[in-house]
Amino acid sequence: MGKATSKSVALPPTKASRAYSDRARRSLPGGVTANVKYFDPYPIAMKRAKGCRLWDLDGNEYIDYCLAFGPLILGHGHPQVMKAVHDTLTSAGTTIFGTPHELEATYAERLLRIFRPDGRLRFTVSGTEATIHAVRIARAYRRRPMIAKFEGHYHGGVDEFLVSHSPSRDQTKKGFAPVSGSRGTPDHVLENTLVLPFNDLPETEARIRAHADRLACVILEPIERSYIAPDPDFLRGLREITAARDIPLIFDEVMSGFRLGFGGAQHAFGVVPDLMCLGKVIGGGLPCGAFLGRSDILDLADPTSEGFFHSSTFAGYPPAMAAGMVTLDELERPGVVDGLLHTSQEVAVGFERRLAEARVAAQVPRVGTVFSILFTDRTVRDYRDTLSADRPKRRALDAALLGRGVYVKPEKPFYLSTAHDRRAVQETVETFAEALGEIG
Ligand SMILES: Cc1ncc(COP(=O)(O)O)c(C=O)c1O
Repeated sequence: MGKATSKSVALPPTKASRAYSDRARRSLPGGVTANVKYFDPYPIAMKRAKGCRLWDLDGNEYIDYCLAFGPLILGHGHPQVMKAVHDTLTSAGTTIFGTPHELEATYAERLLRIFRPDGRLRFTVSGTEATIHAVRIARAYRRRPMIAKFEGHYHGGVDEFLVSHSPSRDQTKKGFAPVSGSRGTPDHVLENTLVLPFNDLPETEARIRAHADRLACVILEPIERSYIAPDPDFLRGLREITAARDIPLIFDEVMSGFRLGFGGAQHAFGVVPDLMCLGKVIGGGLPCGAFLGRSDILDLADPTSEGFFHSSTFAGYPPAMAAGMVTLDELERPGVVDGLLHTSQEVAVGFERRLAEARVAAQVPRVGTVFSILFTDRTVRDYRDTLSADRPKRRALDAALLGRGVYVKPEKPFYLSTAHDRRAVQETVETFAEALGEIG
């Protein structure tokens, strides 16, 4: 495989994936069902998975470090998860009731015990739906239009969440003016979105203070992009600034929930938001999200109050509730989360060591069970720091890893699961050294 210096990655022999992509492009834009699943020249299509391994249409085997972008914390096809889904479908005799059912309150009570014992919760079908409704209910509570979000933070593919999600270096030269992240974004969205700098408390405070009368909420990923940690005082400071003005603070823990340990950033950093969003891991690999928090805010969604309308045909999907609960059961077994944190550290440190031996300037920023690789000598504390990284080099590395059977979605973080065993870890670190050698 040659060195990849262009935008596209040179893939391993994947003739069947190429043919599938050519076919799929005729019905699906780009041949994919979500932009995130695409990469140049064509994404590799999978046919089978087990534990930490994937097999593509050509039969190539990979150790999976994407894990469906995070949810599969127990790996693919965990026996307890598969059984829970099967048993739920069998005992219910249907896929969905479309009425209340017992798993909903059982799972809500469990999540509230972990995150907000005095609060309330609503399930959704995705993380995006959770963040959308968390922001909507904050607007209903404060009766104000504007939201504040942080540069570089992702909360789902929605106009207002894509604002300043990935501005170019040139665009960042204009301070923190909101930058549209998708064609078709209406002007009123830009006018009603305040952009804030992560890990910069004085500037964040000044910007919130200047817009305090219009702000309905502040939403953020407490762990930026799932691998950049907040400074110790940043979340605490943000909590104080927002609490002083009763501006609901929303933690989007769709990614960080259960991925930096059992629980979320609020446990790790001792800061309790007014509202929070969950997704990914809480569905155990099935579609599921939730928004939860202060009961005086969530109760606006009580249908008898006629305050706030929230609905979703598939919310509380029984197999997802069951899969999510057994996933938490597994994570609560003694030693499981510690073991996973240890494995994650082993892979990240292994990469770091190989990078140092090869004298390559790179960072491996990490939090809990997620890390990334950025080819830069700069310590990464926020989105702007990530812009200094050599992206073609990262794409070349990812191509070399794919060619050797380590699956990472090019340029995305690495996610670990309890299914990544000793053999997988050793294979990965050795493969990483070879891949580094190839890209030079
Ligand atoms: C922090 C965060 N919020 C929200 C979302 C959206 O979740 P979903 O893709 O399930 O709609 C994601 C997805 O990656 C995410 O990482």
